[in-house]
Amino acid sequence: MKYASDRKLMLPAFNTTNLEMTFAIAKGLNNAGLPGYIQISSNNLRLSDPETIVYLTKKALKDVDVPIGLHLDHGKSYEDVKACVNAGFTSIMIDASSLPFEENIKEVKRAVQYCHFYGVPVEAELGCLQGKEEDIVNEADAKTDPDMVLDFVNETGCDLLAVAVGNVHGLDIEPKVDLPLLKKISEISPVPLVMHGGSGIPFETIQAARAYNLLKVNYGSDLRKAFISTFGKAYAKNDNEVNVIGLSLDAVENVATEAKKLVKIINE
Ligand code: G3H
Ligand code: ZN
Repeated sequence: MKYASDRKLMLPAFNTTNLEMTFAIAKGLNNAGLPGYIQISSNNLRLSDPETIVYLTKKALKDVDVPIGLHLDHGKSYEDVKACVNAGFTSIMIDASSLPFEENIKEVKRAVQYCHFYGVPVEAELGCLQGKEEDIVNEADAKTDPDMVLDFVNETGCDLLAVAVGNVHGLDIEPKVDLPLLKKISEISPVPLVMHGGSGIPFETIQAARAYNLLKVNYGSDLRKAFISTFGKAYAKNDNEVNVIGLSLDAVENVATEAKKLVKIINE
């Protein structure tokens, strides 16, 4: 975070789901020569475990010369937070945004206390995003209330604040980012802001949001699409296509190209 803010850079946080995407994200950021995060959401932990993810990430970062953090995205429980910190994640999100204000504060505070023992920064969310995060669907749409921001940040001690300002998860709903609201929040928040649901937000909006203390932008669906379409297109062309190795290597290239494109555009 310090590396990026010193250089006035925005940090993309790219969601990984598997080994290939992890390698591709590291490759894309390295090829762009820009920093960012590899992140994995709590609901993805059931496909693997924190130690394996740390191990694979270290492998992926072996020949990389830019700073890349490993972030727990939408951390669902204190147990997940602890497991990821203990395994070696360098950044954590605890997402208690669906809980009432006081309970959200309580959950975040507990996670912050643990993470800060180890110098690990914590992202928390105030307000709730609509949309689909892989297989998790949220119908609710509650924008961040600027009047709650200062108390929330001060009481929790969080290091980054994820906001709901018309941004959405997934590709099914059109995001309508309320820049004046983001500006208002940025004037109140003592910590940098995070925009979830980066896929589908016009680049001019993200670039404009940089003036409002936006430090981190999450991209999930755009990369998943680059990954999955590699296989989908090949299968549509030939339903006897079974070259998983070749297609996996192609998917790594396609995801890396997308990650490189995104990190460059948001930092233009
Ligand atoms: O936490 C992950 C992101 O907010 C992903 O959102 O799939 O709309 O890019 P997206
Ligand atoms: Zn998100």
